[in-house]
Amino acid sequence: MSAPDPLLRAAPRLDVERVREDFPILRQQVHGKPLVYLDNGASAQKPQQVIEAVTRCYREYYSNIHRGIHMLSQTATAAFEEARGKVARFLNAPSEKEIIFTRGCTEAINLVAYSYVRPRLRAGDEILISAMEHHSNIVPWQILCEETGAKLVVVPISDAGEISLEDVESRITERTRIVGIMQVSNALGTINPVREIVRIAHARSVAVLVDGAQAVPRMAVDVQDIGADFYAFSSHKLYGPTGVGVLYGRLDLLKTMPPWQGGGDMIRSVSFERTEFAEPPARFEAGTPNIAGVIGLGAAVDYVTALDLRAIEAHEADLLRYATELVSEIPGVRIIGTAAEKAGVLSFVMEDAHPHDIGTILDADGVAIRSGHHCAQPVMQRFGIPATARASFGLYNTRVEVEQLAASIRKVRDLFA
Ligand code: ALA
Repeated sequence: MSAPDPLLRAAPRLDVERVREDFPILRQQVHGKPLVYLDNGASAQKPQQVIEAVTRCYREYYSNIHRGIHMLSQTATAAFEEARGKVARFLNAPSEKEIIFTRGCTEAINLVAYSYVRPRLRAGDEILISAMEHHSNIVPWQILCEETGAKLVVVPISDAGEISLEDVESRITERTRIVGIMQVSNALGTINPVREIVRIAHARSVAVLVDGAQAVPRMAVDVQDIGADFYAFSSHKLYGPTGVGVLYGRLDLLKTMPPWQGGGDMIRSVSFERTEFAEPPARFEAGTPNIAGVIGLGAAVDYVTALDLRAIEAHEADLLRYATELVSEIPGVRIIGTAAEKAGVLSFVMEDAHPHDIGTILDADGVAIRSGHHCAQPVMQRFGIPATARASFGLYNTRVEVEQLAASIRKVRDLFA
């Protein structure tokens, strides 16, 4: 008997046609054409399993959590906490206590800014980010800098859309209080070497926050392997409901952090003289959370885990390769973001055609992409462009859809040539 093929074991295949049956929204026509949904970077569609989990919660056992001794409250609490366990295993977090539910990835980053960094920040201190960050990993730091007199330091990006480890290393100083870095760029598709960045920062005793919003839907993430102190992502890009995000934080750090919002469910005891705060994660989850949304996120985690993130990654890598090949053959097209390590995001501009024109013409063919600055205006400034057109792939996209994308872009070229 021959030994099993290690490559096959490493990257199982995704049965895309079967997977598509799980997504009811994909069965529709737009402007009389089959929908080709390539705006997954902005938000991914939801499988029946997630829709069903949310609906079941509201239909069968919805109630507030952590507060009731009645049956519905206990059932809802158990389902909510079960989702926390699923997310912890999904990220390979050492403890469920390290998983905090927020309103989104943005709120998770703001939590770190206000609760971890702000109390440690003095005038003249520095916060290090990269030039490709999403606004959510720029603006919270800028606000802190304005409040405290700290300084935002930015690692530049190359023409290919990459950062160099030397540039990261040379910008970490005695005054650096945190490094904030995205694992996958939403505007360029670049996969950043976050593990190495963490190693460099930790050698200088600097904490690292990784924005994993575009990474978790596209690759297996292991927070222990990366070594990050904080890791943030949102549910809606991971085929889960909107309005839910996750912050993973190292428990020893979380224990040192004050709450950033006060309210119900984050306390141990309250009197007018004094409030004692709960331990993490409850300390950071003030108020009634998005209960059904968190339960839906748990279903989304189950869904992608069952498909296998390695299969999803291999599938999207194939789509990206194919799309890059077809789109770069079209005269007048320039791809923005040509890093050696890229995930399923293809940003491009065209001679004479504004990205909004491209988006409108593609929409008439049923092809949904995003046109704009992708909440990354500094990236646009770096490349001297106002915006890009961006196709971003998901686990249900096909090679035929990539061909439809390329055919529609050719139409744009013909109209504007
Ligand atoms: N950050 C999201 C995007 O890249 C909304 O489109």
